[in-house]
Amino acid sequence: MSSIKLRVVVALSGLAFACAAQAGQTATPVKVAAQTKKAASKSRSAIAAEFEKFRDIMEEASPAELFEAKGEELWKAKRGPKNASLEKCDLGLGPGVLKGAYVKMPRYFADTDQVMDAERRIVYCMVTLQGFKEADLAKKPFSSASKTPDPVSLVTYVAGQSRGMKIAVPQKHPKERDAYNTGEEIFNYRAGPWDFSCATCHGADNLRIRTQDLPNLSSKEGAIAAFQGWPGYRMTGGLMHTLQWRLNDCFRQQRFPEPGYVSETLSDLLTYMGVNANGHVYKGPGIKR
Ligand code: HEC
Repeated sequence: MSSIKLRVVVALSGLAFACAAQAGQTATPVKVAAQTKKAASKSRSAIAAEFEKFRDIMEEASPAELFEAKGEELWKAKRGPKNASLEKCDLGLGPGVLKGAYVKMPRYFADTDQVMDAERRIVYCMVTLQGFKEADLAKKPFSSASKTPDPVSLVTYVAGQSRGMKIAVPQKHPKERDAYNTGEEIFNYRAGPWDFSCATCHGADNLRIRTQDLPNLSSKEGAIAAFQGWPGYRMTGGLMHTLQWRLNDCFRQQRFPEPGYVSETLSDLLTYMGVNANGHVYKGPGIKR
């Protein structure tokens, strides 16, 4: 084992322990504390600091790359009841054009008359080109210890084809603007047993839950967190996840019912956060704690 890899393993084993200890607590009610910028950076938790320290090393040999490679294989293989590959899938820049497609999604697609994010569009292609059934893909859409669903690897592959490119989520079509506005409304909509909205946790600077810094997804600067590092290999649990999973898990934290897999609600929210992040450079699939 190379020394860099060894350092990564050592770092990971310590962090995995810390994260597991933390994951066990998430069921208890959360307290959101606002702090001044200075105080917040000073009191950054040990876990967060540890993680930041090792992220750069880890991303040099990121496990996300394995899923990119798996996704490429799946993209090119003839599969499904129609025995077809996904190479004719149109992600908005023409059939089969992958370079830069991810950073320009969600976007409007005339063939479905809908705004679709990357995962929603890829699932659409799996259904139309390969003959898979959406209901089957929606049964267990998120990674577990026993399985990484194909769309997860496929989204990771597609996202990797936009590495180093500027986020440019379009707002030309009226439905793209509608999606942004609806996404903003959902983001600010308060309900549920705790009367929370996304904005309760992600609508102001310097919010934290215990050791976790919460990005302000409504700001130009903070919104990049809804893109950067996603799809991400999550060290808590050691699984690869897409943004669909992240948002569903946040709906759960908010004590809301979770939206259906690849539903319009998710495309709307991703449009809102994506447009807010426009202009930032996307670094490709990454690592999350
Ligand atoms: C109860 C507080 C809470 C609410 C409400 C909440 N989230 Fe989160 N959110 C979190 C936590 C905790 C994290 C993980 C932060 C970390 O891992 O550092 C997170 C992470 C995220 C991320 C990933 C950020 C990153 O840096 O990778 C996104 C995107 C996100 N949330 C979106 C949403 C959306 C959209 C909603 C509303 C549907 C929402 N959240 C509601 C607590 C919340």
